Amino acid sequence: MKRLSFPAFWAVFCCAVISLGAQASSPSPAQKPPVQPQASATAPSPGPALPRLILGAAWYPEQWPEARWEEDLTLMQAAGIRMVRVAEFAWSRMESQEGKFDFAWLERAVALAARHDILVVLGTPTAAPPAWLTQKYPETLVIDENGRRATHGNRQQCSLTSVRYRELARRIAEGMAQRFGHNPHVIGWQIDNEYGPVSYDEDTRRQFQQWLKARYKTLDSLNQHWTTSYWSETYDNWQEIPIPVGEHNPGLKLEWQRFITDSFRDFNHNQVTAIRAHADPRQFITHNFMGWYDVFDHYILSADLDLASWDDYVGTGHLNPASNALLHDLTRGFKRKNFWVMETQPGSVNWAPVNNSLDRGEVRDMAWEAIGHGADAVSYWQWRSALGGQEEYHGTLVGADGKPVPLYEEIVQIGKEFAKVGENLRGTSPAAATALLQDYDSRWAIQFQKHNQDFDTFAHFRSYYRPLQALTQAVDVVHPSAPLASYRLVVAPHLNVLPDGVANHLREFVQGGGHLVLGPRSGMKDAYNALLPSRQPGTILGNLLGGDVRQFYALEKPAPVSGQGGEGEAKIWAEMLETTAPDADVLVRYGKSNGWLDGQPAVITRRVGAGRITYIGAWLDDKTMDSLAAWMIQVSQVKPALGAAPEGVEVCRRVGSGKEVFIVINHTTEPQTISLPRPMREALRGGDAASSITLPPREVGVLLPAE
Ligand code: GLA
Repeated sequence: MKRLSFPAFWAVFCCAVISLGAQASSPSPAQKPPVQPQASATAPSPGPALPRLILGAAWYPEQWPEARWEEDLTLMQAAGIRMVRVAEFAWSRMESQEGKFDFAWLERAVALAARHDILVVLGTPTAAPPAWLTQKYPETLVIDENGRRATHGNRQQCSLTSVRYRELARRIAEGMAQRFGHNPHVIGWQIDNEYGPVSYDEDTRRQFQQWLKARYKTLDSLNQHWTTSYWSETYDNWQEIPIPVGEHNPGLKLEWQRFITDSFRDFNHNQVTAIRAHADPRQFITHNFMGWYDVFDHYILSADLDLASWDDYVGTGHLNPASNALLHDLTRGFKRKNFWVMETQPGSVNWAPVNNSLDRGEVRDMAWEAIGHGADAVSYWQWRSALGGQEEYHGTLVGADGKPVPLYEEIVQIGKEFAKVGENLRGTSPAAATALLQDYDSRWAIQFQKHNQDFDTFAHFRSYYRPLQALTQAVDVVHPSAPLASYRLVVAPHLNVLPDGVANHLREFVQGGGHLVLGPRSGMKDAYNALLPSRQPGTILGNLLGGDVRQFYALEKPAPVSGQGGEGEAKIWAEMLETTAPDADVLVRYGKSNGWLDGQPAVITRRVGAGRITYIGAWLDDKTMDSLAAWMIQVSQVKPALGAAPEGVEVCRRVGSGKEVFIVINHTTEPQTISLPRPMREALRGGDAASSITLPPREVGVLLPAE
């Protein structure tokens, strides 16, 4: 099947879901078409040739005397840094008084960087408004859920829903775009920085009420979908509807998250259009996301971006390769294409409980893991700490004395390696036969009503990702509405909100010969976060499965499980399953537990033509998941990209433009040998083609087919 571009598919899919699943009075989707590039007044500049793998750093020229810039840029160039992200916190320097703009210094910084062969991504500074702004327009300040207004002096203190703030944000973005939209050294834009805080002010509440009105049209529809007859919650007037704080109606809470998503998207869109009106189409627009963070739906916000990027921090402790890989794959899935790591940790951070440093070699290990999962740039935060300000202790590449810190050496090595093998990776991306389905509605719905306080959606999602990634060496993480026909195996760890439109999409995948695996809590809720009036996983998929869920249980202690699918324990969550069709097979059963679960099915599966559907009713321990994942890939005929690798060795594959490149990372502290299915050449260190490779501790290999 030809893959539709994501925005196009999204629009088609959303309409399909709404028209299939909703009643006449149901809400219409609050979607906006993605922004189209507009013609700009001056002819586009050709732009520089981009290095294939980009090493970067966050640089704050406004914090230093101009006389120092040359030395910093010389040190950056020597490290192989080819990109700086600048200006995202420099509003007070660019607009020191309202309407008084000064971009000349920034233009000089961009030009000087270019002389050092360093390209620029400009950040719009709207996460750090200047003092004159908050002083003159105090109504722009965020009000927290306890009714307290933010004060000036930190960042992110302005409300993204404030009409006034949007106007001011648009003006600075537009001013920057007018000045730099044709600058040949500016390759792209980052809008704002790590969207996050939400405001609970009265104006936001009014906007939420209007948004609900546009969505539901009538209060009868809203009252019905939210079951407001419960606890006298019925609304007779749109103005009565509150912003949910703490415990609240699950329908209202889900819509609040969707409203936040749409309002953040509007805020972003406002700047995207301001920039697009003046910028060359070659300049990309991105935003730096934060991994599993979930205040808004990242798929919807990404629709207006050219590129997804994220900020990859470990905090306390050390790299957990599977967790980090999952977050890379998640970000790649926002636009279903390669992404950037816009910020990452140069050794240590300043905000974690213990700000330990990553070990020698670990930063490089992380950089290559990012590339293996589809990053085309890795950029360090930050080049050098300001001598004052809230982040004095954060890790850097240059110390307070202006000289390289010990980690700089490792960055120099990464820079050389990116330059050496970058061309081999040009035009390549990861390609997977297995997809994990991830959606914010389901995560929100579970978080609002966890039922077991230990049900952590990231840990649960990871319990599927870890073994599948290790066995297949290539996993996509995509939205349930994504085209699925190119996958053999599609796994939805906890698809709690499952409207009929999505269920039909998944049914088509199975009928087309794919293997669909649903995890616990799947198919329980409709699009309004109300219980479906059917057993899980809903009528459409339950009929396909020839089985369903009779009852769910929060577990106080683990329950034993065993069967053809594996042996181990269920923990935190267990559902009693039942087969309703004679050809549905039980793969795993519970052992002695609470009496209700004893001997009952925990995992069932059924062949459907050339396809298959499986339902896993419990959160299973790693041992059982290892066996089940092995079974899943075997029955789905998914092969590992390279072949079996020792534990702790991660294999990634990028393909495209007639190339196939393997990135092999030894995350362990022991040497590891990997046998190769055919002779390959290691490109970082060079040497002859071989049919096995031994990697020293924390070492990386970039393997190319022997010519
Ligand atoms: C975030 C921010 C940066 C910086 C780093 C510190 O990612 O985007 O401005 O504060 O954290 O780790």
